[in-house]
Amino acid sequence: MSLLTTDRARRATADPAGPTADRLARPVRDLRISVTDRCNFRCAYCLPPEAGSPAYLSRADLLDFAAITRIAAACAGLGVHKIRLTGGEPLLRRGLPELVRSLAEVPGIDDLALTTNGWYLAGQARALAEAGLHRITVSLDALDGNVFARMSGVGASVGRVVAGVRAARDAGLAPVKLNAVIRRGVNESAIVPLARFAREEGLVLRLIEYMDVGQSHGWQESDVVPADSMVAAVAAAFPLVAAPPAPGAVATRYLYRDGGGELGVISAVSRPFCGDCTRIRLTADGRLYTCLFAAEGHDLRDLLGDDASGGALRAAIERIWHARTDRYSLLRSGGAGRGSVEMHRMGG
Ligand code: GTP
Ligand code: 5AD
Ligand code: SF4
Ligand code: SF4
Repeated sequence: MSLLTTDRARRATADPAGPTADRLARPVRDLRISVTDRCNFRCAYCLPPEAGSPAYLSRADLLDFAAITRIAAACAGLGVHKIRLTGGEPLLRRGLPELVRSLAEVPGIDDLALTTNGWYLAGQARALAEAGLHRITVSLDALDGNVFARMSGVGASVGRVVAGVRAARDAGLAPVKLNAVIRRGVNESAIVPLARFAREEGLVLRLIEYMDVGQSHGWQESDVVPADSMVAAVAAAFPLVAAPPAPGAVATRYLYRDGGGELGVISAVSRPFCGDCTRIRLTADGRLYTCLFAAEGHDLRDLLGDDASGGALRAAIERIWHARTDRYSLLRSGGAGRGSVEMHRMGG
């Protein structure tokens, strides 16, 4: 019997993938690159203020842009076609447009995106678009100034983030998506206003179930608002119809019946999507992880030295992917994945 249990998992195992498939027949398609573990926010679900000062990487530990590009090219050679830049807060990484320019030239990459908290976006959107970035996702958990300020952990102004969202859209970094992590008793009341805002502004809202990733947030299952109830809340205000599923996608998609655009929900707790998970993650210090919840990564730095052709790097990544059996969200109830790396280091 398959190790996987969801419908999506059954589809994935019934449809064996190509030579770069992992032990559960999943190909590698998406590379998520964290360019820094630092952040200017302290979201309670990621880097809560009460957890104290994180032990951030030093600048000397960070992969340089040439090394990141070589790893991306090796992954592209194995079937990766989509890259997402993450953090921490990626816009804190100096010279980021230069990295975007070099990743945009990697053969085989047809989708180059970035997830940001939006604080520095208004000032950087145009340069990123000109460098070849295709699209942007902004984390925005509430539109109410007080709720947003509290959730950011640093009293941040929601108006500045909204200005960043509009700047990204105006720079052509579309579709601009909004990621909202919903926590019971904290920002459930933000769901409908966020949906209204996204419809009015031509954005795609994605409502995310609060996950137990990392160690510092005191996650409890009772804090999770299930995706189905988030969808019901939106549908009561703006009727929805289910959209066809996209294989390997994180979000379950809906369309507004009146043509008002798209909504996504990310149900990693109530309806895990490990069965067709095609994502591999690179941390800012050069470790490769095959699951968001993994505790152990593979250090690639030693492979970056003399390997001018990239052959050894590609072979090493292929071996790592071949050995992969991760399906944390499906095993969550068994307590697997305890000890996972913090979200600000893994990049979400
Ligand atoms: P699109 O390409 O625009 O669909 O976005 P994406 O699939 O790259 O999604 P994004 O990076 O915006 O992810 C949204 C959120 O989903 C993340 O911040 C995580 O909270 C969660 N997420 C993304 N990938 C995974 C994953 O592989 N496993 C789990 N459990 N959660 C994930
Ligand atoms: N659960 C769900 N999503 C999370 N993110 C960060 N921590 C969590 C968590 N515990 C999301 C943020 C951001 C992305 C980088 O990760 O909302 O959009
Ligand atoms: Fe920073 Fe994003 Fe973590 Fe919030 S979720 S603290 S914005 S890295
Ligand atoms: Fe992929 Fe791990 Fe997330 Fe499952 S929990 S979808 S295997 S990253």
